[in-house]
Amino acid sequence: MDFEFSEEQQAIQKLVREFAEKEIAPTVHERDEKEEFSRELFDKIGELGLCGIFFPEEYGGSEGSYTSYIIANEELSKVDDAVAAGYASSISLCAWPIWKFGTEEQKKKYLTPLAEGTKLGAFGLTEPNAGSDAARQQSVAVKQGDHYILNGSKIFITNGGEADIYVVFAMTDKSKGTKGISAFILEKGMEGFSFGKEEHKMGIHASATRELIFQDVKVPVENLLGEEGKGFTIAMQGLDGGRIGVAAQGLGIAGAALEAAIKYSKEREQFGKTIGKFQSIAFMLADMATKLDAARLLVYRAAALKEKGLPCTKESCMAKMYATDAAMSIATDAVQILGGYGYTREYPVERLMRDAKITQIYEGSNQIQRQIISGQLLK
Ligand code: CAA
Repeated sequence: MDFEFSEEQQAIQKLVREFAEKEIAPTVHERDEKEEFSRELFDKIGELGLCGIFFPEEYGGSEGSYTSYIIANEELSKVDDAVAAGYASSISLCAWPIWKFGTEEQKKKYLTPLAEGTKLGAFGLTEPNAGSDAARQQSVAVKQGDHYILNGSKIFITNGGEADIYVVFAMTDKSKGTKGISAFILEKGMEGFSFGKEEHKMGIHASATRELIFQDVKVPVENLLGEEGKGFTIAMQGLDGGRIGVAAQGLGIAGAALEAAIKYSKEREQFGKTIGKFQSIAFMLADMATKLDAARLLVYRAAALKEKGLPCTKESCMAKMYATDAAMSIATDAVQILGGYGYTREYPVERLMRDAKITQIYEGSNQIQRQIISGQLLK
């Protein structure tokens, strides 16, 4: 058991930390206020090589470790979780399934630009009536000769409208339940594929969240991802990795909140001393730091399993559930420590608290994580 990052991982951490401070931090407040998605920032992330960290070189990647990618997620989230959410959706939920289940042609055509960061990806699973119950897909794809006709819609899609490439799910045989769901690769601009309502959210304001609408979209058969009927397991395996990414977002948010709380506790004086000298504050900081470290261990264990290609469903759910619950609690405590100032938009902790909330909800609510973990324990 080694608790040190490798040289490669340390280098990624340094690279992303410096990049995020220099390029993302200066506009984080403004983009949050204006609810503004920045493609420019994503392009810069791509130029830095962060979209292809663990993909093979032949598809535009740099063959680094999966854990390095998770570290990149954490560092981006520490500065702006809205940016990290878009980045992670593109890689974990769009590029990864194409790498894992795609044909050679699909990998060349879609994975390569996603890994190079010249194209942005998205993942369309959630529907108005298929949220936690993802199997209840109502989008339908009917095969007609050399293409499928896709009808339906998706909601709450991260990068919706901004992404170029979409991995989406639809029923190809309703009678077969989860085994009747198939995955498809869609491109922005396909006839009949449009975008609906843009969501105005509590947090991650600078992340685009939008409805996808399919009206008789003609999807070529070569855009079927994996075999027909394998869509549900493709989605679930994608989420196994995606959830480690969300867990890393929790680490980033929690780390930023803890740092802000420590800094303030060392500066703010009340009753003749800095507030960190009061046990009420000092013990809060101790609990926050311990929770964050515990979360970190779960997240890096899940990443290590995924990196080795070992089963990680339970461990990724544990990491996601614990790290994002910790992020919510640590960010809330940071607001409490900063008091009235923490509640204003002048300090970052209120944004961190708003951003933390979504990590407990997306890629499976933390109640769904508990359901999956307990299901694995009891099976
Ligand atoms: N890996 C491989 N296969 C898996 C799997 C996994 N992790 N999880 C399930 N499966 C397989 C099962 O083995 C089973 O196969 P068999 O029938 O051959 O045994 C099949 O899939 C069906 O599994 P379940 O019976 O467990 O399915 P279920 O209908 O009971 O649902 C669920 C399970 C875990 C609740 C699932 O619906 C789920 O994860 N729900 C949450 C959905 C979710 O996370 N949505 C997030 C959307 S993406 C997002 O938020 C990002 C964004 O852009 C906003």
